[in-house]
Amino acid sequence: MALTLGIETSCDETSVAVVQDGRKVLSNVIHSQVDLHKDFGGVVPELAARDHLERLPSLLDLALDNANIKPSDLDLIAVTRGPGLAGCLLVGVGVGEGLAAAWSKPLTGVNHLWGHTYAAMLAQPDLQPPLLGLVVSGAHSDLVRMPEHGRFEVIGRTRDDAAGEAFDKAARMLGLGYPGGPALDRLARTGDPKRRPLPRPSLEGLEYSFSGLKTALLYRLRDLGGSLTEQDRADLAAAFEHSVVESLLEKLDQALTASQSQEGVVCGGVAANTLLRKRSEEVVAGRARLTMPPLDLCTDNAAMIAAAGYSTSPLAGEVGRSPGGAFRPAVVDPSLSW
Ligand code: KG4
Ligand code: ZN
Repeated sequence: MALTLGIETSCDETSVAVVQDGRKVLSNVIHSQVDLHKDFGGVVPELAARDHLERLPSLLDLALDNANIKPSDLDLIAVTRGPGLAGCLLVGVGVGEGLAAAWSKPLTGVNHLWGHTYAAMLAQPDLQPPLLGLVVSGAHSDLVRMPEHGRFEVIGRTRDDAAGEAFDKAARMLGLGYPGGPALDRLARTGDPKRRPLPRPSLEGLEYSFSGLKTALLYRLRDLGGSLTEQDRADLAAAFEHSVVESLLEKLDQALTASQSQEGVVCGGVAANTLLRKRSEEVVAGRARLTMPPLDLCTDNAAMIAAAGYSTSPLAGEVGRSPGGAFRPAVVDPSLSW
């Protein structure tokens, strides 16, 4: 049995977790900075970094307590090294380095996007690559093939905004505060997507684009002007959500057909969206097994970082779960890609 401590500080959630053998969550404490940033309408990087630093010590104690373990029981420390906000990543990596030195434990740097994908393996412990993933977050809308542990091939991505970014911007246009995605999700539940339909973006191949859809919403709101009712807002939220979700799933559908993959994963913060979860089930049904992490493992959390760090480390090789990777350097890289 191997225990991994995960640390996640890439954006506006501070999280510490303990995961057993890369699959079983023993604790996963998450502090959301929503209250800190909401008056600014978005994440303020300086405030975010400082708050991560202030919160980490108590979250660390809580994560160890909840897992009922001592630091000496740990086998590995895994910390997000990118992509994310530079100052925020520096805090997490600095703390990870300090703990690794103080406790004489190996440290591994984790790609946050890998983390989102490995969250699916916490939800479905027998899930193994090869798999096909739709990874949708605040900064990414990527279709990836994962042929084996620690290897990812991007087969589709967005040309402009990520799905989460598009939701956040649409939410702002609709007068909803930060964080926009969940607020738009709630408003859309009371709307009808057919009453004020918006175009569905559809590009050739496996590419996404959401900027035209965003502009269409802007013009629709401008046209309605002062006559915009609460119901109109809800209908437009539902129409926007419908277009984004159908566009995401049209390409997932194509990629599933092309790859003949038996395992489909939909993950990342946007995978918390009510309609995306429902429609993913329908689109993937009967063709592959679909795994969507539960909501608290879709949005940013440290359990997924521990899972990815462990599963791509030499420790996983010992229990036969992967060919045995390496402890990757915990070097901060804010623009890290797959
Ligand atoms: O993965 P995540 O927590 O952070 C990043 O790595 O970016 O994703 C955050 C994104 C935000 O854009 C947020 O608005 C969106 O996920 N999101 C949602 C929902 N919950 C979070 N978008 C639509 N519906 C939701 N329920
Ligand atoms: Zn994320």
